[in-house]
Amino acid sequence: MKALLINGSPNEFGCTYTALKELEETLNKRGVETEILYLGKKPVAGCIACGKCRQNNKCVFDDKVNIIMEKIENYDAIVAGSPVYYAGACAQITAFLDRLFYIAGSKMAGKLGACIVSCRRGGASAAFDRLNKYFSISNMPIVTSQYWNQVHGNTPAQVKRDEEGMQTVRTLGENMAWLLKCIEAGRAAGVTYPAYEKKIMTNFINE
Ligand SMILES: Cc1cc2nc3c(=O)[nH]c(=O)nc-3n(C[C@H](O)[C@H](O)[C@H](O)COP(=O)(O)O)c2cc1C
Repeated sequence: MKALLINGSPNEFGCTYTALKELEETLNKRGVETEILYLGKKPVAGCIACGKCRQNNKCVFDDKVNIIMEKIENYDAIVAGSPVYYAGACAQITAFLDRLFYIAGSKMAGKLGACIVSCRRGGASAAFDRLNKYFSISNMPIVTSQYWNQVHGNTPAQVKRDEEGMQTVRTLGENMAWLLKCIEAGRAAGVTYPAYEKKIMTNFINE
């Protein structure tokens, strides 16, 4: 059982990282392996809607999206971490996830999804809702906690003092580890993943 924890913040060891680290500790304690992926400080290309990924099975921007895409089978859970920028998720993580989910969306089914956002003061729940949209369109069960997964602070030290936020993250870890074990036990008992109907896509126009 392995979870990929994506740190979308340009601050490698900032507030978002502090929350992801707290989650990692709980997951590791409960026997779930983790990998933290830092997206870096350089601009992350957004999707240019070229559709080339559908032909080549990789993105024309050869960056961390392709690296993760190639080993996506290794992960049982995906956690998106982001600082709150103007009441939304930051550009780096949305650019990364737009491209990753566009190319690997069908491979995400059955993996658990969760997000954690870090803000100084406000806008956390809008960012949280936005990030959960990747999971809820991809047949991914979303793991929840005792509150929306948000921490408050401008520095890691402040985030550590947000006792409720940090507890929320630890509870998320407990729930995620428990669900991963339930899925593993179900699989061992012969419960198979649903076989879906052929996907219908309509665009709300008359053709
Ligand atoms: C461009 C920008 C926009 C921000 N917008 C918000 C905001 O809307 N609400 C808020 O509470 N904090 C906002 N902040 C503060 C960060 O979300 C907050 O400090 C966060 O915890 C930083 O996380 P990090 O250390 O992982 O980067 C903003 C910061 C930046 C740089």
